[in-house]
Amino acid sequence: MATRKKSKGKGRAKAVSRKVVKLKSKGIAAKKANGNGHLPRPSSKAWGQAGKALTGVRILDFTHVQSGPTCTQLLAWLGADVIKVERPGVGDITRGQLVDVKGADSLYFTMLNHNKRSITIDSKHPQGKRVLDELIKACDVLVENFAPGALDRMGLTWEHIHKLNPRMIVASVKGFGPGPYEDCKVYENVAQCAGGSASTTGFRDGPPLVTGAQIGDSGTGLHLALGIVCALFQRNRTGRGQKVLAAMQDGVLNLCRVKLRDQQRLKAGPLTEYSQFGEGLPFGDATPRAGNDSGGGQPGWILKCKGWENDPDAYIYFITQAPVWGEICDLIGEPTWKTDPEYATPRARLPKLKKIFERIEQWTMTRTKFEVMEICNKVDIPVGPILSMKEIAEEPSLRKTGTVVEVDHPTRGKYLTVGNPIKMSDSISEVTRSPLLGEHTDEILKDVLKFSAKDIAEIKNSGALSAPKKEEKAA
Ligand code: COA
Repeated sequence: MATRKKSKGKGRAKAVSRKVVKLKSKGIAAKKANGNGHLPRPSSKAWGQAGKALTGVRILDFTHVQSGPTCTQLLAWLGADVIKVERPGVGDITRGQLVDVKGADSLYFTMLNHNKRSITIDSKHPQGKRVLDELIKACDVLVENFAPGALDRMGLTWEHIHKLNPRMIVASVKGFGPGPYEDCKVYENVAQCAGGSASTTGFRDGPPLVTGAQIGDSGTGLHLALGIVCALFQRNRTGRGQKVLAAMQDGVLNLCRVKLRDQQRLKAGPLTEYSQFGEGLPFGDATPRAGNDSGGGQPGWILKCKGWENDPDAYIYFITQAPVWGEICDLIGEPTWKTDPEYATPRARLPKLKKIFERIEQWTMTRTKFEVMEICNKVDIPVGPILSMKEIAEEPSLRKTGTVVEVDHPTRGKYLTVGNPIKMSDSISEVTRSPLLGEHTDEILKDVLKFSAKDIAEIKNSGALSAPKKEEKAA
């Protein structure tokens, strides 16, 4: 108020006065709406109808195979407009790998590229570079997982990108971070081996094992997605983009952190929760393979269930959680173990885990895995049936939540896929089919990049967006 009085009648001061009044009234309006002067008014639309979490974010998706596509598919489910750039005529190499329906994109490709648009561009052609430069200006994030140096060899250096669009976030998956292996090409199992997973997976009398879960590829893609969203968040404050790197070795190691924990615990003595302790076997100087031992403080093992002789998945993971030890003893018909000092405490049980699990297995073998699950859950014993992919595909509750989804595709027909595992009440994911190669080339040139009809014709005639003709290829 004092400012307004003082400035009355003077040109410059008048402007200041108007500004103050404007700010004040805005604050009051917002406060009225929210009871808070800083937050925007909540949407009046129903949940799930005011756009998605990443609506308005546009991604230049230069990814291929699995790790990068996992990341951009997740961002697409969360609402980003993902424009996948593919090599003309070929596309992402996975389109033609592990083909099950002749002439159709493979499941390998379709299951990693939902909700995206596809444009074909030869990134090494001058007209292709022209289109890419426009895409860089029109997008918020460039995601890539080429071999080290490939993006630079296309001329898409950080300096070039940042000059065209200082707000652009450039996110990469590489096999290794800076160091002796930074130039290496890497696939899933290489990462599992280099990230500590293989040396700690399997049985101690067998070789290292890789796991079926794609922790190197999909796991790193998930790490990258988090980095991208955080970079977008930071950009709100700084106004500038940044480089985001997720190395597959680092991603796998992050998921294996309990094994690095055990490596350090070895200095203090044997790892008592590993069954080799109970069996009186010595430990070496590195974290050993733990078989099916539980990674935490509650011992567990995989046990046979009824039908195991013919069904390779008739097993259950059984955890002898300390608080329900009494219930376990009652179930398996060993009530005296509840008070017998040889069994009554977790510490006393550690050297006898093998014997204990053999006894529990005598009981689980009399029931199916689903019966064991039902009986144990009633008394809060944590158990997990070993579900086959067939059982998962047929599980109605997973269909209901959209975790397993049926999608229709023009060339392959209906197929099952895994939907968005992240459920958000106001950003609901619909899974739409993966794009055909170059399906959206025209609409992206016209609607996103605003090229004129003349420019589009020039770019197309140059051959930058199409596969070389057979004679050209042969020449
Ligand atoms: N137009 C023209 N050229 C294109 C193109 C396009 N649209 N898209 C890709 N290319 C070119 C690249 O520029 C590169 O050429 P260059 O070697 O002359 O620079 C070439 O295609 C091959 O790319 P590259 O990434 O080396 O593919 P690859 O099939 O030889 O290797 C990987 C595949 C996965 C091993 C490798 O990309 C990699 O190590 N990526 C990082 C780690 C990773 O993500 N691994 C997991 C994959 S699931």
